[in-house]
Amino acid sequence: MAKRGMHISGYFPRLGLASLILCIISGIILTFYYRPMGNVFQNVEEITTLVPYGWFFRQLHYASGQVFVILMLLHTVDHFLRRRYRVYSVGEWNLLIVSLGLCFFTLFTGFILKGDKEGIFAGQIFMNILKSVPFIGAPLSKLFMVPGEGFFFLPYLYHCFFLPVLIIYFLRAHIREWLPDHKFLAFSATGLFLYALIVRPYMDIPPDALVGEVKGPWFFLGIQTLLKTMPATLAGLIIPGLFLLCLLALPLARKEGRSSAPSGQQGREGTARLGEAVLYYLIVGALCAYGILTIRAGIRGP
Ligand code: HEM
Repeated sequence: MAKRGMHISGYFPRLGLASLILCIISGIILTFYYRPMGNVFQNVEEITTLVPYGWFFRQLHYASGQVFVILMLLHTVDHFLRRRYRVYSVGEWNLLIVSLGLCFFTLFTGFILKGDKEGIFAGQIFMNILKSVPFIGAPLSKLFMVPGEGFFFLPYLYHCFFLPVLIIYFLRAHIREWLPDHKFLAFSATGLFLYALIVRPYMDIPPDALVGEVKGPWFFLGIQTLLKTMPATLAGLIIPGLFLLCLLALPLARKEGRSSAPSGQQGREGTARLGEAVLYYLIVGALCAYGILTIRAGIRGP
């Protein structure tokens, strides 16, 4: 239920959940026509131009997916800034962070599914990043994508099935009310329906078109910029992986300090506090740097 005078923090997850519901419904409608093989670009263009209300469901799915993930990001940043990881168990905090990562991966696979030049390009970059992992690169990349006729099939399977199921499974204990208050549902549905009705779908670039620059999805622009100056393993895996590790380790520092306090080891408590502060500001610094990189790449190109 919507509480009176609810803090802004309370709106992010509720509106996010309402957007997820709309996203899943519109996604299921799209799969009635979408085929992840053959001429995928033509198939998606047919959804936009020939299938009755196809353009509407595409826009609704796109907007609800973006809004859902952006609200999940804001919700996590809000928890982080209010240092809520101190009250969560390490396992619970880690599940939230992993779920957020999966949300972004769902957006990424959706971007590939468009089947246009940008989607194919993003898929190929992703495949190359995975292949660059020493020793296990080739089998690892085959878990997510294969070249040729089946290029879209695995991203399709992840996007429409594995990832949404995993996200919901991981969040099952964290979410108390699965059906948000009708006010949140009505507000999200009105906003997103209006967007889908008013904003015309973005012109997808045909796979064989000659274009100077191909951009990835907005949250990938920073990595795309780094990839220009660094090896794929460093820019695409090591740097994001280190960032993820810092986030996952955050509640651990605090736990270490607390568990040693009763035995009078105040020195350890002090070290743990310092460790937590260092991790916290490292994450804030990395987030700001990535934000600046993304905005710069959005304006000037990656
Ligand atoms: C966490 C949930 C989901 C998110 C965040 C999400 C997001 C997205 C995004 C951003 C796109 C690209 C749209 C574009 O740029 O035009 C997309 C495409 C697509 N999604 Fe999802 N989606 C989700 C769940 C689902 C589910 C559950 C299904 C089906 C059961 C589905 C089916 C599709 C299909 C068929 C496409 C390709 C058609 C198109 O590009 O319009 N999605 N999704």
